[in-house]
Amino acid sequence: MTTIRLEAEDDFDGWRTAARALVLAEVPPESVSWQVGDTAQDLFASADTTPPPPADAPAFSVSRGFVALAEEVALHSDPQRFALLHALLARLRHQPRLIEDRADALVRRCEEMAKAVRRDIHKMRAFVRFRSVTEEDGTERFVAWFEPEHHIVRHNAGFFVRRFATMRWSILTPELSIHWDGNALTEGPGCMKADAPQDDPAEAVWKTYYASIFNPARLKTGSMLREMPRKYWKNMPETALVPGLIAGAQAREREMILDAQVKAVPGGNSQLAIDALREEAASCRRCPLWKPATQTVFGEGPATAPLMFVGEQPGDQEDLAGRPFVGPAGQLFDRALGEAGVDRATTYVTNAVKHFKFEPRGKRRIHSKPGTGEIEACRWWIEQERDIVAPKLTVALGATAAQSLFGRTMTISRSRGAPMALADGSECWVTVHPSFLLRIPEVDRKAEEYARFVDDLRRIGARVAELAG
Ligand code: URA
Repeated sequence: MTTIRLEAEDDFDGWRTAARALVLAEVPPESVSWQVGDTAQDLFASADTTPPPPADAPAFSVSRGFVALAEEVALHSDPQRFALLHALLARLRHQPRLIEDRADALVRRCEEMAKAVRRDIHKMRAFVRFRSVTEEDGTERFVAWFEPEHHIVRHNAGFFVRRFATMRWSILTPELSIHWDGNALTEGPGCMKADAPQDDPAEAVWKTYYASIFNPARLKTGSMLREMPRKYWKNMPETALVPGLIAGAQAREREMILDAQVKAVPGGNSQLAIDALREEAASCRRCPLWKPATQTVFGEGPATAPLMFVGEQPGDQEDLAGRPFVGPAGQLFDRALGEAGVDRATTYVTNAVKHFKFEPRGKRRIHSKPGTGEIEACRWWIEQERDIVAPKLTVALGATAAQSLFGRTMTISRSRGAPMALADGSECWVTVHPSFLLRIPEVDRKAEEYARFVDDLRRIGARVAELAG
């Protein structure tokens, strides 16, 4: 047994260096024990260092997609994560396209782990609540307590630095604490909940706000806040309201609930989560497309829409307006939706890629198709949008959307017109992209294809109504 010791739970670089050497030296993954820190003892370990690769070992490279996946999987709390990644890397050396095979059990497992990590990262960003404390020197510091499921705290630190750059803050978690003093980020040991302040007058304001967006109908069905699991409730000031809202025993409370129900933004908590995600996406740097683009074009529509449309990427007009499907393709889409009897206002419309990719040509910006790397990088957002909105039915408009949703290239003509299952088991339909219709030169064929598109949308509308009961 070879033991590899990594410096920390999230030591991706350490894993990468060691795993690469192990794979080159053809050390079988099952004969490696991955340990974190120097406290774990492996009595049967025969070596503590990575074997040097043979001098004549051929170099091999892996796709950016794998690196992105591995970076996320490495943050998972599963103690097997480094071993699983090692096994995947070893197979990738001989099957470079394995990562695209979502039917492969190991690829699927890693994808699921990465997804869980992404969800945890987003939850921390959306649901950390700071409480104000006055320090000994009289300065104000904002302190939050958070219990992540995975090893995401260090990874998330940059987000909080950017977001709260001018505040002095600390985030305490059981594994480590991070502190920002306006200039430098420092780390400290893990803490206990009792180390964090429990009260803040500002909470009263938050509680009032929370009551006003609270959707009691969801409470009654017990399906409160998919995006805010119970384990987080206890750390959020607003949850002090929950027992009262659930019990609803007193008339005043009942009145308050009814009042809140009337005033409530439907699905107010999904709305909060999607707003937080939109804000976060505004500074997305996950691929280089943000540089020449005007802005991130995020999805729009009700955060609890039963129907979600996914397009390819914003076009020239969407890039300027900051809204999806408002240019020529969007206008055609609106017309087709109208003819199919689907109200766009009840749907959530988004794109697989959130920045406009183009080639400058004189004063014009010519649409350029996003590549697999860009689609993969942007899946970070679409998966979280789907997670929050939880549509009953998702529609892929064209090949890029289908590739993003299914994780593999698909032929529209072959997949069109029948429901398919996404990895989470929900239903997805594939149809053409409205831009395809705009590009057809022959009048008759254009009319024919448009009618087919409307027909697809009509069937989709009927199916959603059926699914939504
Ligand atoms: N095409 C798309 O795929 N999305 C838009 O938002 C506009 C055009």
